[in-house]
Amino acid sequence: MYLEELFGLSGKTAIVTGAGRGIGQVVACGLAKAGAEVVSISRSGAPETVEMITKEGGKAYDLKADVTKEAEVDAALAEVVKRSGKIDILFNNAGVCLHKDTFSATIEEWRNVIDINLTGEYIMARAVGKIMVDLGIKGSIVNMASMSGSVVNIPQWQASYNASKAGVMHMTKSLAVEWIDYGIRVNSLSPGYISTPMAADVPQELKDAWMPLFPMHRMGKPEELIPAILYLVSPAAGYTTGADIIVDGGYTLI
Ligand SMILES: NC(=O)c1ccc[n+]([C@@H]2O[C@H](COP(=O)([O-])OP(=O)(O)OC[C@H]3O[C@@H](n4cnc5c(N)ncnc54)[C@H](O)[C@@H]3O)[C@@H](O)[C@H]2O)c1
Repeated sequence: MYLEELFGLSGKTAIVTGAGRGIGQVVACGLAKAGAEVVSISRSGAPETVEMITKEGGKAYDLKADVTKEAEVDAALAEVVKRSGKIDILFNNAGVCLHKDTFSATIEEWRNVIDINLTGEYIMARAVGKIMVDLGIKGSIVNMASMSGSVVNIPQWQASYNASKAGVMHMTKSLAVEWIDYGIRVNSLSPGYISTPMAADVPQELKDAWMPLFPMHRMGKPEELIPAILYLVSPAAGYTTGADIIVDGGYTLI
């Protein structure tokens, strides 16, 4: 009962972007277990995630939108308001990574990473924030940053990714202050290396190079991010806004 009061999400509608796989899929299942109705918004749909949630007795549906395209985002959010009547939570998770040194990466590749990771999160946060304001909802937004917003990862070069995530962290603080009087809280999450399909695409030599850098001698699991997100979107975090929670197994400490 006490934990339900602090962390329960019954009656809440939570949007998760990029919930078709990886961190988004696992967190979507976690939010549903805490009682939220989950809406996945992703480019190609997330039927598997919806099935995983509904099979366990939870509520979920999926919609298609590219987070970089305002018209698609607006149409998807209008559909959420029509079907669910409101939006209480946004986990702004969709993102991409590019491992290329600066002289090899093209400007188009730089723009694509910034467009999805930073502008895409801005488009989504702005559109959801507007709906929350219009409906008088004191909602919660969690933007996906990364430890790469605070440190420069080695040995791979990924300036566009690092810059995009640093941008997400300061955009988060900016929106947190701008929207404070609406009662909308905006925070970010900065994971370390997490085992997901994004990480699975990484060559083994690179993972071997990372291993000595992990204080816990392992990558994180997506499940290990759920509690921090659950905290940030729950009533327990009523006085927490503009914060960045680092969940990296100590990576950024050394
Ligand atoms: N895996 C890690 O080690 C790690 C660490 C820190 C932060 N992150 C961040 O976590 C988030 C999820 O990463 P993941 O590891 O689960 O990756 P992933 O590649 O498994 O999932 C990313 C999801 O985002 C979706 N997506 C990408 N571009 C999109 C767009 N334009 N519109 C809509 N959806 C789009 C993809 O389709 C996919 O479902 C990303 O923002 C990533 O930067 C990951």
